[in-house]
Amino acid sequence: MKKGVSVSFLAKTICISILFIIFFGCGSENLQLPADVAFPPTFTNIRNRILIPRCANCHSGVVSHKVLLATEKMAIVPGNSAESTLYQKIESGEMPKYGQKLTDEEMEAIKSWIENGAKND
Ligand code: HEC
Repeated sequence: MKKGVSVSFLAKTICISILFIIFFGCGSENLQLPADVAFPPTFTNIRNRILIPRCANCHSGVVSHKVLLATEKMAIVPGNSAESTLYQKIESGEMPKYGQKLTDEEMEAIKSWIENGAKND
């Protein structure tokens, strides 16, 4: 009788462990953040991760939202990335002038930031 109890206890423990592994082992993939969450398209994020390290050497105005939006050269049209010179230049790969092009993820972040109104956050 005692043996029977401990065997079933063992079986239950194994069962629960397997369920645990299935649940959390497979579920962890779903817990991974999608690309747009991994790089939230906010001005602060874009400024700190793209504009300051990749553009500010040559375009000092990019560090301030107010200046950036007022800079004719950057020609940001809130809500319309296709009409925004800044987006055209990064998409075509003309900017940054030297060094690596922006990654797709970085370009997407800038695109959605502009499409969502190029807000300051
Ligand atoms: C090494 C210096 C350098 C870096 C880094 C750089 N630019 Fe430029 N950028 C220039 C120069 C110089 C011009 C003037 C036009 C030209 O020579 O193409 C320019 C022009 C521009 C223009 C206006 C183009 C026009 O037709 O009026 C935009 C928009 C622009 N840059 C955006 C950016 C962005 C965004 C970044 C960062 C991702 C960046 N640049 C990085 C040097 C740079």
